[in-house]
Amino acid sequence: MNKVLEVKNITKSFGKIDVLKGVSFSIDQGEIFGFLGRNGAGKSTLINILTGVIHQTNGGFQILGGSLDKVKGKIGVFPDVDNFYADWSANQHLKFFAKVQKLKIQQKEIDEKLALVGLLKDKGKKVKNFSFGMKKKLGVAQALINNPEFIILDEPTSGLDAESAIHMRELVNKLAAQGKTIFITSHNLNELEILSNRIAILKDGQISVIGTMEELRVEAQNKIQVEITLNRPLKKEDLATIDLPPHQINKQNLRISVKQQEEIGNCIRQLVLKGYNIYSVIQQEKTLEDIFLQNEVAH
Ligand SMILES: Nc1ncnc2c1ncn2[C@@H]1O[C@H](COP(=O)(O)OP(=O)(O)OP(=O)(O)O)[C@@H](O)[C@H]1O
Ligand SMILES: [Mg+2]
Repeated sequence: MNKVLEVKNITKSFGKIDVLKGVSFSIDQGEIFGFLGRNGAGKSTLINILTGVIHQTNGGFQILGGSLDKVKGKIGVFPDVDNFYADWSANQHLKFFAKVQKLKIQQKEIDEKLALVGLLKDKGKKVKNFSFGMKKKLGVAQALINNPEFIILDEPTSGLDAESAIHMRELVNKLAAQGKTIFITSHNLNELEILSNRIAILKDGQISVIGTMEELRVEAQNKIQVEITLNRPLKKEDLATIDLPPHQINKQNLRISVKQQEEIGNCIRQLVLKGYNIYSVIQQEKTLEDIFLQNEVAH
């Protein structure tokens, strides 16, 4: 399988803030690769590095088997900021972007791109009269103008209404069906679940989990969260002699994170032996997103 992107141990610091602390992963040809992370996790920072807008502090990457400057023409990018001119129409923009990239492109092809994103009927309208969603569509059309092999989309659906988001997802699927490889960021796991073949989750500057949705589910099962309420606060001296899995304590509430159900019984036995009564044991129902994006239970 050809690797379209190989990211090796990339770090990025802005002054004293370490945003990326060693990110490594690769994307195979034809994949729709979802990149999930909370606001400020560093998704756009990584994209800016991959597209040459900023430089990494350390580490490196290869795109389409080479360095960025050699393959730029085969990449399409929809960035998280738009750079449109208010008084230009969608059509003028696409013509301009084609010219900047020295592409010999006919009006027919521009119309095809506009139709693909659903902007053909608005092609003469000035961008200052565009809605937020229409600008997103124009941004995606811009990313497609050079018929790229590898497409990087930074939150293409955030802020879109339901219908536009569905349209955008259909478009991504259509592009994948044409054999394109797609890197897409989002802070919505459900959306990436629908779209992606594989998902990586960026948390605390690193990839915390990566795999298919099935693999993520298995990983999540290893993080069962249980809230145990005791009859009295847990004493420090008792704690020192009990063998607990990763946990948090808040007065008489004890939250543990276990891999297997048996560990819950083991905890309870030890607490009872120390003379605590158990008021309740509640296994917490959490979404995958909660499990992967919440702060880990402290050890
Ligand atoms: N040029 C910069 N100078 C200083 N700090 C920066 C710069 N660019 C990004 N950051 C910081 O890096 C962190 C990651 O930002 P980034 O935009 O990559 O996050 P993100 O995952 O894309 O978030 P969002 O979901 O909101 O788009 C943030 O704390 C941000 O403030
Ligand atoms: Mg971003």
